[in-house]
Amino acid sequence: MPHDFMPGLAGVPAAKSAISDVDGTRGILEYRGIRVEELCQHSSFLETSYLLLFGRLPNATELTQWVNDVTHHRRIKFRIVDLLKVMPEHGHPMDALQAAVAALGMFYPGRNVKDVENNYWSAVRLIAKLPTIVAAWARLRRGDEYIPPRDDLPFADNFLYMLTENTPHPLWSEVFDDCLILHAEHTMNASTFAGMVTASTLADPYTMVASSIGALKGPLHGGANEEVVMMLREIGTPAQAKPAVEARLQGKNKLMGFGHRVYKVKDPRATVLQELCMRLFNVCGTSPLYEVAVAVEQLAGERLKDKGIYPNVDFYSGIIYDKMGIEVDLFTPLFAMARVSGWLAHWLEQLRENKLYRPDQIYSGEHNRQYVPIDRR
Ligand code: CMC
Repeated sequence: MPHDFMPGLAGVPAAKSAISDVDGTRGILEYRGIRVEELCQHSSFLETSYLLLFGRLPNATELTQWVNDVTHHRRIKFRIVDLLKVMPEHGHPMDALQAAVAALGMFYPGRNVKDVENNYWSAVRLIAKLPTIVAAWARLRRGDEYIPPRDDLPFADNFLYMLTENTPHPLWSEVFDDCLILHAEHTMNASTFAGMVTASTLADPYTMVASSIGALKGPLHGGANEEVVMMLREIGTPAQAKPAVEARLQGKNKLMGFGHRVYKVKDPRATVLQELCMRLFNVCGTSPLYEVAVAVEQLAGERLKDKGIYPNVDFYSGIIYDKMGIEVDLFTPLFAMARVSGWLAHWLEQLRENKLYRPDQIYSGEHNRQYVPIDRR
């Protein structure tokens, strides 16, 4: 049966899903029917992960159990630490994360994805261990010792502790935890789709997450958060924003952190991230990057609103991480640490009615050509 070709599969449903929903014209994002703004206000990243994975908010006993399970699986094998130690220190952290996650699967070889209990523990391990890998890599690559997780610290606090060796200011943990909630899930985006294609072959979840990490790395997807901060640094001051935006647009260069396949209004996550910036700045002082970002948003709004191009999630997130002193190339790994919950939720959902992804193509090549011997070419 012939089909229309849709470049980038734009508008083509690849799955039926009850995990999250985006209303791109009203700027609404819900996880399991609950708006992300509400989750940031009342929930935690781990509670939100539970919601995404299991379809409902946990009761108190379930939440305690879930948090305990994740907390007690945060350690990584010394061989994973050794693996990180031998990787080139100038390599990108997303590559280190992808390799370490793929290697992680070798320690937990249960391949039967029909085993519900095994799947639960795989999800626990992946959510628990990604932050440990990211923090370990950040330290080992500069010659510092790896800091093991601390069981007495909550998820966000523990990550910032493993990164810096300091227990963070409570506001930092709160803001960071909200950032994780905002990045935890976003319907059928490129990295989720990449993971679902891999998972549809019944590959194990470590391989699936490694596929998703690879797709998230690119600058059109999660990698945009790094590019945004580099762009804002390059612009330098709010006064430079106008010529810089004009030059970019005239040169047909995209403004990083702007535009979205689904949102035709401002991404609701960008609005929450701006509020988080304010909360952070009230305690820690402002960021010059923020002033530049606001100027860029205003100018871009004037120039691009007819195309429905507004800030997306990547526009303000990096400013928060930068203010916390986190290195720019770690921003996308932070995205992965959160999004792994969404990837796993889609994986569990897909397994219930799995069908191998095997799309079609429209062949545009020739037929019946003859092989020409090399001496006659
Ligand atoms: N700056 C300037 N113009 C843009 C931008 C932008 N950021 N994004 C889209 N456009 C223009 C584009 O030039 C094109 O114009 P025209 O029709 O005149 O040729 C039109 O808008 C449609 O662009 P498109 O690239 O075909 O649209 P898309 O739906 O394929 O792109 C996107 C979505 C996210 C890839 C794109 O907006 C983009 O490249 N943005 C910059 C990178 C970025 O911020 N990515 C993060 C995406 S959201 C979070 C995530 O997934 O991590």
